[in-house]
Amino acid sequence: MNLKIAVLAGDGIGPEVTNEALNVLNAVAKHGGHTFTYEDLRIGGVAIDADGSPLPEATLAATLKCDAALLGAVGHNKFNSYPPSQRPEAGLLKIRAELGGYANLRPSVAYKPLADNSPLRAEVTEGTDILFVRELLGGLYFGEPRWWDKEKKLAHNTMVYSEAEVARVAKIAFELAQKRRKKVTSVDKANVLEVSQLWRAVVSEVAKNYPDVTLEHQLVDSMAMHLMNTPRSFDVVLTENLFGDILSDECGVITGSLGMLPSATLGGKVNLYEPVHGSAPDIAGKGIANPLGAILTAAMVLRHSAGLEKEAAAVEAAVQEVLTAGYRTADIARGDYAGQKKVSTGEMSKAVLDAIKL
Ligand code: NAI
Ligand code: MG
Repeated sequence: MNLKIAVLAGDGIGPEVTNEALNVLNAVAKHGGHTFTYEDLRIGGVAIDADGSPLPEATLAATLKCDAALLGAVGHNKFNSYPPSQRPEAGLLKIRAELGGYANLRPSVAYKPLADNSPLRAEVTEGTDILFVRELLGGLYFGEPRWWDKEKKLAHNTMVYSEAEVARVAKIAFELAQKRRKKVTSVDKANVLEVSQLWRAVVSEVAKNYPDVTLEHQLVDSMAMHLMNTPRSFDVVLTENLFGDILSDECGVITGSLGMLPSATLGGKVNLYEPVHGSAPDIAGKGIANPLGAILTAAMVLRHSAGLEKEAAAVEAAVQEVLTAGYRTADIARGDYAGQKKVSTGEMSKAVLDAIKL
């Protein structure tokens, strides 16, 4: 299998954790005789410094010629006084829009024994394995018209979805559920919103093509509660843009640390893979960042762009194994846990590489 990957390491801990993700990809490629080639490209603060733009034309053009894009993080305090359109973060928003992915996948997994690091009781979270599929290009965040009239003391946003926009993201959710535990929970507010009534109707229609997958509908308000009470009962959770933003962040507590969360955005010209965390300027350059979010993101590259499901699962199993063995970067270390081995970014990554069974 050949895969050309755009590597957009970015700022802060971005390059540190991306490096570890690449080590994992290289180990898988070497073992399976695959050819993964990488193109290092600038984005964010490093691109502003070198090229005068947070997303240089050359970066975008080269990324569009790749099979997948792996992004670290962007953002640096020295740009805090810049207007939003000239900050490193503008490069990230622009590349997401240009690549055009509409299905944002965010797994929320309670790794043992990390579950007891979460504010939720371990017996509630243990075994949780949710995959959020959040629609990323529609809804309130993009709907027109949008305005704030300060004189009239009035502001306006528009929640709008077409049937086609709902159908395409629903299809991805059902396809993913077929490869998992065959359940889709679709979230809406159909008791109040017309957009949600359309959403529910279209999702129910798409579901007919996937008779092996169980579909349930949940209203977003009670869903927020169910996720905290019975997280184990969910498999794939399909949501529109705003609801998914809120619910997937809520589920961050199940995993315990921002440094553990991967994401993938599918459906556009090039799939975009990125850990959920930012550039973490407070710990950048110290070699202590948790590389697991980036490594789990590499597993998503293997699963969704390389079609290497077995290898992706092997990487995820290796992450579980090193956590069980007590390996902890600073963000997930606990003072009272006797068995833990406090490790650096590189040591954590090395432990995962040693634990991958291909
Ligand atoms: P952040 O995610 O960078 O950091 C929040 C907290 O989590 C910090 O205490 C940080 O040390 C910790 N943390 C994050 N990732 C970690 C990891 N892998 N290992 C250990 N600890 C980790 O969010 P923050 O501080 O709000 O933003 C910092 C910069 O990053 C800003 O410029 C922001 O705009 C940018 N940002 C970029 C994102 C991206 O590139 N996708 C996403 C979020 C923020
Ligand atoms: Mg958010």
